[in-house]
Amino acid sequence: MNWRRIFGGAATPGGSKSGRAEQLTPELRARIRTSFDAASRDDENFPATIDPRIYHVKLIREHLGDMRGKRVLDVGCGKGRFARVFQEQEPGAELWGLDISEEMLRFVPEGIHTRAASMTELPFEDAFFDGAYATESLEHAVEIEKAVSEICRVVKPGGRIVVIDKNAEQWGRLNTPEWERWFTRKELETMLKRHCRKVSSRVISYWEDVEPDGLFLAWLAEK
Ligand SMILES: C[S@@+](CC[C@H](N)C(=O)[O-])C[C@H]1O[C@@H](n2cnc3c(N)ncnc32)[C@H](O)[C@@H]1O
Repeated sequence: MNWRRIFGGAATPGGSKSGRAEQLTPELRARIRTSFDAASRDDENFPATIDPRIYHVKLIREHLGDMRGKRVLDVGCGKGRFARVFQEQEPGAELWGLDISEEMLRFVPEGIHTRAASMTELPFEDAFFDGAYATESLEHAVEIEKAVSEICRVVKPGGRIVVIDKNAEQWGRLNTPEWERWFTRKELETMLKRHCRKVSSRVISYWEDVEPDGLFLAWLAEK
């Protein structure tokens, strides 16, 4: 995605030493929401569909297991391109999509429950979901630890969680909005381990038979 074109400004390094915001103040939250509302009109960089054969889809399905009769949350779902695939592949699942941008949520297919809210304050009771996944969205949460804690809170004990985001060791490869933050494998593993019994991570690429170039990481957790 061409973030410089979408959001304007240059890429700045992540981490607290950069002076980057660490609090999701009402002003920053409104700015992020407005940016993604506008980005929802950009079909090229924010498509509503995804190739169901990509490895991300396979990995989420494998880790979450049989979704039949299960309630699954797509955290920061955008237009719901992953939930759309799971709706087709797993018609017995109860799918929910949550996003800060109401304009993004307009594209989520019928039959998928939606909520407009921040992942740092999830509007669900404890253990409401059997599983949850977040693809390229946690990196926008600003209050990352709070978002991780919330995602874990709303998943049942024994439930599975998948996070797919970019690798902090590759920071600078893409233009990013000023609030975005990438994580190392260890950083996010440590955060997830505060709430989950089992946590692992791996480097992935879009295609299973293509050697990962190090940009994308997947974290797999069991609460
Ligand atoms: C790069 S998009 C990814 C969307 C989707 N997960 C996908 O893979 O197509 C990031 C999404 O995160 C959402 N987002 C950003 N901050 C958020 C927050 N605090 N809570 C919930 N959603 C947020 C944005 O509105 C946007 O739809």
